Amino acid sequence: MNDDPSPSFALLSGAPTRTRADVLVLFASEASKPNEVVAAVDQALDGQLLRAAREEGFRGKAEQTFVFQTHGRLPAGRVVLSGLGPAGRFDAEVLRQAAGRGVKTAQKLRGSTVVMALPELDPAVGVRAVAEGAALGAYRFDRYRTDGQDERVPLRSVRLLLSNGLVRSSRLERALAEGVRVSGATNFARTLVNEPAAHLTPQALAEAAETVGKAHGLQVRVSGPRELRKLRMGMFAAVGQGSENGPRLIELSYRPRKAAESKRPPVALVGKAITFDSGGLSLKTADGMMDMKTDMAGSAAVLGAMEVVAELAPPFPVQAFLGAAENMPSGTAYRPGDVLVSRLGKTVEVTNTDAEGRLVLGDVLAYAVERKPSAVIDLATLTGACVVALGNWMGGAFSNDDALAEEVLAAARRAGESFWRMPLVDLQKETLRSEIADMKNVGERWGGAITAAVFLREFVGQTPWVHLDIAGPSQAPRERGYQGKGATGIGVRTLAEFLRARARAS
Ligand code: BES
Ligand code: ZN
Ligand code: ZN
Repeated sequence: MNDDPSPSFALLSGAPTRTRADVLVLFASEASKPNEVVAAVDQALDGQLLRAAREEGFRGKAEQTFVFQTHGRLPAGRVVLSGLGPAGRFDAEVLRQAAGRGVKTAQKLRGSTVVMALPELDPAVGVRAVAEGAALGAYRFDRYRTDGQDERVPLRSVRLLLSNGLVRSSRLERALAEGVRVSGATNFARTLVNEPAAHLTPQALAEAAETVGKAHGLQVRVSGPRELRKLRMGMFAAVGQGSENGPRLIELSYRPRKAAESKRPPVALVGKAITFDSGGLSLKTADGMMDMKTDMAGSAAVLGAMEVVAELAPPFPVQAFLGAAENMPSGTAYRPGDVLVSRLGKTVEVTNTDAEGRLVLGDVLAYAVERKPSAVIDLATLTGACVVALGNWMGGAFSNDDALAEEVLAAARRAGESFWRMPLVDLQKETLRSEIADMKNVGERWGGAITAAVFLREFVGQTPWVHLDIAGPSQAPRERGYQGKGATGIGVRTLAEFLRARARAS
């Protein structure tokens, strides 16, 4: 069980025609005229690169790639053209995707040293996007493969070639370092999500959080089942009571060095961490249970963001709360019909033990807002209904505060992650009416993602709050750009960008 070491990244200046590498990746748009870098390489190959590309139907469309063997005519063994789509319309995310596709192609060609030539975009934006796309694209989860059958070889080095007279500068070095750091955190989150539930128990997640805390100087506190009862988190404790692997409330806290800054209101990040969701006594079907080791993707994103928070060094505290439990059926499991007493004192009748995420999050959100945060953001693989609504490539964003919602959505756009604002429909709460308690945990089928969010809203009071339902985009159904099939690590980049922008503004 060996993990690939991550590739090393560096900036390089010089001519693409004189650059040694297993694979040289060039970006090309649909423009009728090739860009300077492509033209120079084509010229060194006597026009054969573009002629062959044209013959094989490569037109620079996004998602297109073309491979050319140089047979010793260039110091680079292969040239890969990666398409950017319509000229002048590509942005950082298109470039990220193209860079990811470029390294994946390079790895399939058994190349382990890759040089990527930056296209014409603001250079700091370009460096960052290419670094992220390459680092994310090189990710594989192969610690359980012993047969070496993966067609891709591990990537050793990626160098970003600055052309057009650009030279290395501290600004570009910083863009590179930031891109590599946030991608590393995303890949860390992907691995937590891909890890089987037998290994990634609530306690194992707590240990991962402690490792992150030690590496980055964060305070970590872990509470077990007895403490959850003492904290009167009756909903959270109930969800965890059916498993041999008991629940854990995992708290991480970043504090700025300056005393005045450390007294500011914190930003609170909350993650759902159901390490396995069998549905409990309201048992899922075999198919429905298949991917449920990934039901902790929200907390993986929060933990990934906490991995970069110390380097971002915002001038306000950041507190993370992971609600970790395994939802299992057993003789000690909570039952349909049980009435639970939440930390807020509200009582909840359980009508379906598979709607466990909102029970855990309700208690954790109530606890988080007691710290009087300026904002609380939760991430959760909360509802299948959200997958029905928005599919696998976009998450749902629910909020009680328009300004905060826009701040989070803008950060997501800059980071290249997709969320769509969804409404909190007040009338939806009627479906949660219970005969014997304050609420039920499940309403009608229709509008299920909204009802779940409306349930959560009961526990945040007046605190500005955004809930990101990532049940769809936590997993990619197929390979695309910098994404392989499997865990995406969605949320890490949005949270990191949110904190970075807020740090700058304050
Ligand atoms: N973890 C699931 C939601 C989920 C579904 C995540 C598909 C990823 C992919 C959640 O705990 C759940 O089971 N929700 C139920 C709620 C229902 C019982 C009201 C659902 O969506 O079916
Ligand atoms: Zn469930
Ligand atoms: Zn769940």
